[in-house]
Amino acid sequence: MMRPRFLIRSFKHIQASVFSSSYLHFKSGRISQACKLKAMSTSSRPKVFVTRRVPEDGINLLKEHCEVSQWNSDDAITREELIRGIKGVDALFCLLTDKIDEGILDAAGDSLRAIGTMSVGYDHIDLAACRKRGIPVGYTPDVLTSATAELTVALLLNVSRRLGEGVEAVKDGSWGTWSPLWMCGQGLDGATVGILGLGRIGLAVAQCLKPFGVAKILYSGNSEKDEAKQLQAEFVTFDELLKKSDFVLGCCALTKENIGLMNKEAFSKMKKTAVFINTSRGGLVNQDDLYEALKYGEIFAAGVDVTSPEPLPTDSSLLSLSNCVVLPHIGSATMKARNAMSELCARNIIAALKGNPMLKQVQ
Ligand code: DGY
Repeated sequence: MMRPRFLIRSFKHIQASVFSSSYLHFKSGRISQACKLKAMSTSSRPKVFVTRRVPEDGINLLKEHCEVSQWNSDDAITREELIRGIKGVDALFCLLTDKIDEGILDAAGDSLRAIGTMSVGYDHIDLAACRKRGIPVGYTPDVLTSATAELTVALLLNVSRRLGEGVEAVKDGSWGTWSPLWMCGQGLDGATVGILGLGRIGLAVAQCLKPFGVAKILYSGNSEKDEAKQLQAEFVTFDELLKKSDFVLGCCALTKENIGLMNKEAFSKMKKTAVFINTSRGGLVNQDDLYEALKYGEIFAAGVDVTSPEPLPTDSSLLSLSNCVVLPHIGSATMKARNAMSELCARNIIAALKGNPMLKQVQ
């Protein structure tokens, strides 16, 4: 809900923007680097702070309406710089790597009246704190659904058919003669696929997998979904899904309730031939338990695009396993999806600054 005192006149008086750039030096984590703080200066326009270098589509849109300052780097902004950048702005354009909590909202002050995250996930934002202050939060569902579903399927096929191991074997010379039992994996034909969270992405993944000859789609979550009917997907308990599925796919949003859901107990209920895939959030999985399950053959293999922490330290035990593929959180990484995410994030912010509902607002 927009606070009335924030309904502003400035959008009615948008002037041609005068563009000025100033170069400031910031220290970002390990690397001391020069970052460019771009600023548009006209006094009456709302101020937006952008926490990273993002696709220009969104930035250009914002610049039509707002004074934009930006942490113009590919490295994540430090908390210190975020606190400095957010001070006194009307809106924040952030990413999933920015923890937006009470401290950050306090630093912004009363001027802050819109937050847009360029992501479908919003577990990095303290929603209760935003609600308390009447700050709407926008996010970017839909536009990344097919890109993320595609990556989920790619990861599943890679892991289940052992593509990475095969490529390595060719390179390191361990490819001997053709052999009936060598590099055999698990196929989708006739398989049961269990989806944790049949939301937009889970549904898109199920649709992509159907033509591979999948026999049955199961899903678990908070409630039954009407959309499941078109796929003849069956709503089951978490336990039933684990026990019956040949493929278990994490496609749900991370919540307080499902942190560490995929733990020792969960893996022990899965088939020894089952493949686990996670493209949601690393927090869904207890990684030590996943390691044990893979190492001691509780499950066949796993592929994860998301880890905790990110980046995953290079000495992580998961990386020592041949039956585990770890990707660097690239589910939505297509130019099309990222441009659309940037644009939608900007549109959400602009709508809120105009006193309108965001196009995609977290409820
Ligand atoms: C999201 O948007 O939340 C994904 O994890 C990255 O695109």
